[in-house]
Amino acid sequence: MAAIIPGFSKLSRKNKIDILIQNLHLGEGIMELLDHFRLNESDFQSILDELSENTITNFPTPYGIVPNIKINNKLYHVPVVTEESSVVAAASKAAKIWSERGGFHATVKSSVKNGHVHFIWQGKIEKMKQIFPLLEKQLLESTDSLTANMRKRGGGIKQILLIDKTKEIPGYFQIQVDFDTIDAMGANFINSCLESMASHLPKFFRENPIFIGVEKEVEVVMAILSNYNPDCIVEVFVECPIEELRGIYPDLSPALYARRFKLAVDIAKSDIHRAVTHNKGIFNGIDAVAIATGNDYRAIEAGAHAYASRSGHYQSLSSVNTENDKFLFSLELPLSVGTVGGITSIHPLTKLSHLILSDPNAKELMEIVASIGLASNFSALNALITTGIQKGHMKMHLSNILNQLNADSKQKEEARVYFKNKKVTFGEVERYLRKEDVVG
Ligand code: MEV
Repeated sequence: MAAIIPGFSKLSRKNKIDILIQNLHLGEGIMELLDHFRLNESDFQSILDELSENTITNFPTPYGIVPNIKINNKLYHVPVVTEESSVVAAASKAAKIWSERGGFHATVKSSVKNGHVHFIWQGKIEKMKQIFPLLEKQLLESTDSLTANMRKRGGGIKQILLIDKTKEIPGYFQIQVDFDTIDAMGANFINSCLESMASHLPKFFRENPIFIGVEKEVEVVMAILSNYNPDCIVEVFVECPIEELRGIYPDLSPALYARRFKLAVDIAKSDIHRAVTHNKGIFNGIDAVAIATGNDYRAIEAGAHAYASRSGHYQSLSSVNTENDKFLFSLELPLSVGTVGGITSIHPLTKLSHLILSDPNAKELMEIVASIGLASNFSALNALITTGIQKGHMKMHLSNILNQLNADSKQKEEARVYFKNKKVTFGEVERYLRKEDVVG
């Protein structure tokens, strides 16, 4: 069992590792393993070490490319980082299918982000409303120096709203602030502005003569951006006459293919169990591009899953329409991403990702990310309504099992041929390798 390690963060890297080995009885070879994944290039290593805390090594994850995806008539080769087998192959397959059918059409519908100062005040809302224009002006002024650069670039604070939440929690109000952060994801910018406003708030109530007695007291609970961004929306779709679906899966007629596909999406619209898995398939692609480009995939996921519940019940983020002999498959979701700031310009590989994408701005990146999400979703559904998901997964699954069983390259090659049309399970592969050993 682990024991407490006091002052862990203050220890040197070597001491951290030594104490972990001792504390957890980790045995031989741990230091070598951890060293193995450190970079020799000391500059990059120190950048990585400083991104986080208590760093003892790096955790490499495959970095790949979804090639040849046509988005708004422009061709992209999209960097993706994922540990999951088949995600890149699936998105690449959809990219090819749809590039031959007009490509992905993406539009940013809005790009406003928001945050709140949450506070408690036991006064009458009418009085607050009366004084709010003055408060708004002062809050805006309190952020002048913080927003100067962003304003020069055309962004900044778009509006400040007072929201009465007293019905939910006695005395609870919010100052909601809407921001345009241009090409930055803007988390630090937004939080700094909100904290500046929060620190101004008590003074405003204390010093304003309109307030008397208990009204002079305001309790700021917190000031923080919201990851729910229903006004930062991107939409992407693919479409073609139903007849042009012919060839995607030759065993189904185009009409039957379209019908099955629509049913699969409609099921994810109506059933939460299916919807969560369906949307997870979308995030297989979205998260992979978000990571490769240095964006916060946890924020993206949290916001988009909430968006999937905006009707009151959680449902598919994508939709299908098959009216007028046309197949239209679309995805709409909030995506807060940035192309400047954060790790986008620090991590050597996120910098490379932006270069590979020809340095898109934030709106273009929203379109790329959403397109890869729709591509992933398309391929998953395509497999589910035809061959089933396991067929495509098995090749990758087999590779993973062979690696786990330390197969050499000859064994891997032969196993791939042997299992081409057979069921792949860990036990079967293990038995196969054992038999080979005996035969060999
Ligand atoms: C697996 O990572 C993703 C899928 O389960 C998505 C789906 O079911 O739509 C295949």
